[in-house]
Amino acid sequence: MANPNIQWGILGPGNIAANFARSLKNVSGCTLRAVASSQYLRAHGFANEHGAEKVYGAYREMLDDPELDIVYIATPHCFHAEQIRMCLEAGKHVLCEKPITTSAAELEPLMTFAAGRNLFLMEGMWSRFFPSWHVAKEWIQAGKIGEPRMAEASFCFRAPWKPEGRLLNPDLAGGALWDVGIYTLAFSTFALGTDLKDSRAFMHRGETGVDEESALLLRFGKGETATLTCSIRTETPHIARIHGTEGSIQLPAPFRKADRVTLHTGNAVEESYYPYHPPGFQFEIAHVRECLRQGKTESPEVPLAESLLWQRVIDRAREENGFATTMP
Ligand SMILES: NC(=O)c1ccc[n+]([C@@H]2O[C@H](COP(=O)([O-])OP(=O)(O)OC[C@H]3O[C@@H](n4cnc5c(N)ncnc54)[C@H](OP(=O)(O)O)[C@@H]3O)[C@@H](O)[C@H]2O)c1
Repeated sequence: MANPNIQWGILGPGNIAANFARSLKNVSGCTLRAVASSQYLRAHGFANEHGAEKVYGAYREMLDDPELDIVYIATPHCFHAEQIRMCLEAGKHVLCEKPITTSAAELEPLMTFAAGRNLFLMEGMWSRFFPSWHVAKEWIQAGKIGEPRMAEASFCFRAPWKPEGRLLNPDLAGGALWDVGIYTLAFSTFALGTDLKDSRAFMHRGETGVDEESALLLRFGKGETATLTCSIRTETPHIARIHGTEGSIQLPAPFRKADRVTLHTGNAVEESYYPYHPPGFQFEIAHVRECLRQGKTESPEVPLAESLLWQRVIDRAREENGFATTMP
């Protein structure tokens, strides 16, 4: 890249974008250049608070900025596909919040388009970059739990009752599977690989028409299984565990404050602790910085083929349970 200091733009300065911007400040070689919102004043307030140089009251205007390298998209999921295309067409690299799209049919043409333009595209699966996850991966690769056979993960919380908000509103791609189930899916392929052979899902449709609770069962190539649960209306302890023939790895609080990981073999327990500055996007941002510096168009940690696999599982789950598989 011409300028080694990567110039970021934020599209959709809402809740999570604020956390992202706080983390961005702590990553060397990265600058928050611009913020774009459909509401100029919102972008202006955000830019003041987080120190962005440029403010735009329309997304397209920001994309005309020749200095901008990459756009972080942080809007509700139903807008992602259209906004990714808009950014790619303007020649910008893209990091898009999870879920990257709301169907495999939306994602596939974007993958082809990004590759054709030699542009970077990645789903913002930030949990993959927590240090504790890296340790878990090292332990798995070192054979510390033997052969990984079973994964379990649960990401369930009780959101306040706001039927018009993005979590419960079907028109904004609400629902548990898209919002938090995607993290558990990402954990299952992290633990067991991507040779997925089969999936089954049970989804509970709530009053607003979105899935408030969902459960997934996956079967992988050597008969390994994953059991995943997610909810936006029922709180449960968050867990992520990988069980192997010789031991288990457990990540307490795996999807938000993943600062701890434990290895259980026989009666022995080994714990690793990694304190870090919240909110925790710095690991993902530093990874994207390295990918851009190396001219990569995809992340080796969150490759698009894996994002596509998660989309296919969700497509199938929605179809099996009578949910629409294309957004209105
Ligand atoms: N990685 C994580 O830990 C994490 C956590 C939470 C959420 N997320 C993801 O981040 C994305 C955004 O979530 P959020 O909670 O930050 O969203 P949000 O605050 O509700 O909205 C973010 C921005 O999206 C646009 N937007 C919101 N509602 C809209 C509507 N009805 N019509 C058109 N535009 C709308 C607005 O952009 P303008 O300002 O341009 O109008 C808003 O500023 C989601 O895809 C979610 O899955 C990730």
